[in-house]
Amino acid sequence: MNVSIIGTGNMAKGIGLRLAGGGHQVQLHAKDQAKGQALASEIGHDTSVVAVGTPTHDVVVLAIPYSQMQSVADSYQAFAGKIVIDITNPVDFDTLRLIPAPGTSGAETVAALLPEANVVKAFNTVFSSVLAAGQVSGQVPDVFVVSDGADAKSTVVTLINSSGLRAIDAGSLAHARHLEGMGLIHMSIQATLGTNWQSAVQIVS
Ligand SMILES: NC(=O)c1ccc[n+]([C@@H]2O[C@H](COP(=O)([O-])OP(=O)(O)OC[C@H]3O[C@@H](n4cnc5c(N)ncnc54)[C@H](OP(=O)(O)O)[C@@H]3O)[C@@H](O)[C@H]2O)c1
Repeated sequence: MNVSIIGTGNMAKGIGLRLAGGGHQVQLHAKDQAKGQALASEIGHDTSVVAVGTPTHDVVVLAIPYSQMQSVADSYQAFAGKIVIDITNPVDFDTLRLIPAPGTSGAETVAALLPEANVVKAFNTVFSSVLAAGQVSGQVPDVFVVSDGADAKSTVVTLINSSGLRAIDAGSLAHARHLEGMGLIHMSIQATLGTNWQSAVQIVS
């Protein structure tokens, strides 16, 4: 698949490495072209870099802070009909609480900002360091995927499974609030466990 990633930070790197390694074509949207080129070189596999603007690919990963969603919705055009993957953990790091009001989620806020896009929540429970490595202690991280669009969700599940990770369909977009809570708990327990961001949420059976 051809995938546009908006952002050139830690998650853009982790997701970019996994997708490119899985044979997918990655396009980075960079505010800073030099930063974008450096990351594209690191990802390899003919990863391209373009400026802020219109994502050309049908799958778009928003690898940006939750606080930037409104700005991205305003600065980027043509999300209509595209699969937009929201990976954010909308957390207030001063209070260690979720920013969205109880009963909703960051993903549903993104869906409201981009009403013509097919919004899928994924990757928020996986740390960038683990994505970059593709594993932790030899274990492949699970990636929970939720959306109200069956086709969009199925496409993202296929994308993830073909990139050396395990996707788990976890239901509708309303479940994003629980994934965001899970992301918050996973971050909160790093000090407790002393795992230093080298842990992953995985369902064992
Ligand atoms: N880090 C993790 O382990 C982790 C795990 C799960 C989920 N997440 C979520 O993933 C998202 C990204 O996290 P991160 O760790 O990758 O953050 P990061 O390293 O700070 O990267 C954020 C990126 O967003 C770009 N950006 C900011 N505003 C933008 C805008 N208006 N338009 C285009 N690009 C913009 C930044 O560009 P500049 O640097 O040029 O400003 C930067 O490249 C966050 O929502 C976070 O909650 C992170």
